[in-house]
Amino acid sequence: DKGGWSSFMAKEITEQPEAVANTVRGRLVDGHVEIPELTALGDDLLREIDRIVIIACGTASYAGMIGTYAIEQWARVPVEVQLSHEFRYRDPVLSDRTLLISVSQSGETMDTLMAVKYAIERGVTTVSVCNTQSATIPRESDAAVYTHAGPEVAVASTKAFVAQITALYLIGLHLGRVRGTLSGDDARRAAEQLEELPGLLGEAVDTHDQIAQLAHWMADTRSVLFLGRHVGYPTALEGALKLKEIAYIHAEGFAAGELKHGPIALIDHGQPVFVLVPSPRTSPLMHSKVVSNIQEIRARGARVIAIVEKGDTSVLPFADDVIRLPLTDVLFEPLLQVIPLQWFALELSAAKGLDVDQPRNLAKSVTVE
Ligand code: F6R
Repeated sequence: DKGGWSSFMAKEITEQPEAVANTVRGRLVDGHVEIPELTALGDDLLREIDRIVIIACGTASYAGMIGTYAIEQWARVPVEVQLSHEFRYRDPVLSDRTLLISVSQSGETMDTLMAVKYAIERGVTTVSVCNTQSATIPRESDAAVYTHAGPEVAVASTKAFVAQITALYLIGLHLGRVRGTLSGDDARRAAEQLEELPGLLGEAVDTHDQIAQLAHWMADTRSVLFLGRHVGYPTALEGALKLKEIAYIHAEGFAAGELKHGPIALIDHGQPVFVLVPSPRTSPLMHSKVVSNIQEIRARGARVIAIVEKGDTSVLPFADDVIRLPLTDVLFEPLLQVIPLQWFALELSAAKGLDVDQPRNLAKSVTVE
């Protein structure tokens, strides 16, 4: 039931505040994060791990990339993401101090399941971040940290993505507390942000009408680029994937700093570029770098669509369109920034008369390797 929406994807985009609230619920008690499924693994084990490998595919891998920044910051342990289907072919270095976290909405993705099994055979502790109760991957894993986004029907993942980021952040905060690496201030600040998040996501959902107008006149666009820095980089990758997937438009995401190492040659008159601008309050250095990137591409004719924090007027002289989002800390920006990108893909797909929920050649859960 689409609940009055034109597509499941539209309905699921609007359900994101709830998806995040439900994923946090019960895991944040008196300002500290406690995930019983991780406690059951034993605090000694969590204290001794010296490396975390996140495995996932597609959108879930971008949630994983975003998770690396937060987990490293809070738990002071090196974290990397590997695509599930690449993982076992590289003879990965694993030990009993490695923690493997798989991220999968369906819990049935064969590539991810095979990677988890490979790790289990080598004695690695495995945690599953999954949206589907009792799916194969959480059942095979040592611990399951469920996202509570509710059933996701549209092939393009939206609410599962924000719930995956949320779950990874909760894991990072739990690990940081147990390992003694998370300061009281950071713990309190993160707890506040997690509590505020559903309201902020609601405001990001309200960008719909502005984005729909933008997509309307961009219906014949052949290529779109997305730029971001830090956590904005995987967010840019996700924005590009959504567009390829449901609007069949060539799209690429770049780390903003990478531009001058090649991709800037793509910028030509009228080339649309979405730029995810970090907050000038919490990340002044990154902010000024991204604003320079905007100036560089604008000077070469790009059509700049800047996604900024409300009140940031620094990009106004260089941007063709400005989308404003509520204020949050840098690590939480992707959860808000991805929403206008999801709307954009949806509206462009709809403007082209495509089936938003059932893109060609794709299945909701990929159960073959
Ligand atoms: C993109 C999308 C896919 C999935 C990927 C992993 O919108 O839906 O990229 O994210 O196939 O699926 P799960 O999370 O079920 O393992």
